[in-house]
Amino acid sequence: MSWRTENEGGALRVVVTKDLPGRRWVEVLTAAGCEVVISTSRDILSVDEIREALGERCDGAIGQLTEPWGAELFEALKQAGGRAYSNYAVGFDNVDLAEATARGISVGNTPGVLTETTAEMAVALTFAAARRSGEAEVFLRAGKYTGWLPDLFLGKRLWGGTLGIVGAGRIGSAYAKMLAPGHELDVLYWDVEERPGLESFFEGYSELNGAHGGRRLTCRRAGSVEELFRESDIISLHTPLLPETRHLVNSESLALMKPDAVLVNTSRGPVIDEAALVEHLRANPDFRAGLDVFEKEPEMAEGLVGIPNCAIVPHIASATTWTREGMATLAACNVAAVLQGYGCEDSGEIDHFLEGDVPQKAPSILNAADLGL
Ligand code: DGY
Repeated sequence: MSWRTENEGGALRVVVTKDLPGRRWVEVLTAAGCEVVISTSRDILSVDEIREALGERCDGAIGQLTEPWGAELFEALKQAGGRAYSNYAVGFDNVDLAEATARGISVGNTPGVLTETTAEMAVALTFAAARRSGEAEVFLRAGKYTGWLPDLFLGKRLWGGTLGIVGAGRIGSAYAKMLAPGHELDVLYWDVEERPGLESFFEGYSELNGAHGGRRLTCRRAGSVEELFRESDIISLHTPLLPETRHLVNSESLALMKPDAVLVNTSRGPVIDEAALVEHLRANPDFRAGLDVFEKEPEMAEGLVGIPNCAIVPHIASATTWTREGMATLAACNVAAVLQGYGCEDSGEIDHFLEGDVPQKAPSILNAADLGL
């Protein structure tokens, strides 16, 4: 394990389990009087390694989505005197919130800065899958291109179809707004709640498009996720990983989908039963998938890597410099604010944390209400 320290001798001690992009996050923590101990290893740290780093005195920690922050680590943090934790992610299925709350430890996450960036990757994967760009690139780089052919890498035209969004929160809605208007797609979404903001965006857009001779688009909540699976030409997953969304896409739901549908996942790998997807892709060569996340990262289900009708990238949907620096700033502000005794931002706004004077608030604490923050 290799570590580096910033602001050695600071009154408070914060452990960060991966070096993070940018400098503002270090500045936020050092301005709050923290010595910042940062892992410089690119390997995923084990629970034992993290526990050892927390040591006997640690006031706060910033951890990764690849680490299981549960009873063991929160107990180690508490024993070291810790009060604040932030995930360096918006998703927090790797964190046992109840275990943190039971020990009085705040848990932060980083919403708001991943929205458009992640939606952009979902759009990129949609096209990569539908238009087979990854497959074609591998072919070209292998020196197999011997000249233009009428049937070389025929893909699926997306124009005018139905776009199915599973989970129409921040990222799902941004993806729908990016993709559907330009391609005249009707939107069908499935969510636990109605999304009137998304529906009225498409009403307004339809009026404008209609006035310019284009088609009027519809946007409505599906009666059931099965209806969405049956009706959609593109299905994009934007739901958090919850017990009820684990394996939401399985052999039964895949069988409901159109044989030439495009399935995109930038949420969490276990939302799809990956072995069932491999089987489905093999049996339906016109069915295509675009995956950023995998069920057992960094591994992929047996056979997936060799399947041509699947575009794959290694969990990089939020990987732009702006977003990853923003995530680092929000995570640092979450920890620094709690350690300084500040409350939590309740407007959902995060822009004012990203530059200028650091607000005397934490941007996003998931258990703020339980801890009275
Ligand atoms: C998150 O923040 O949850 C993302 O998966 C990171 O890319």
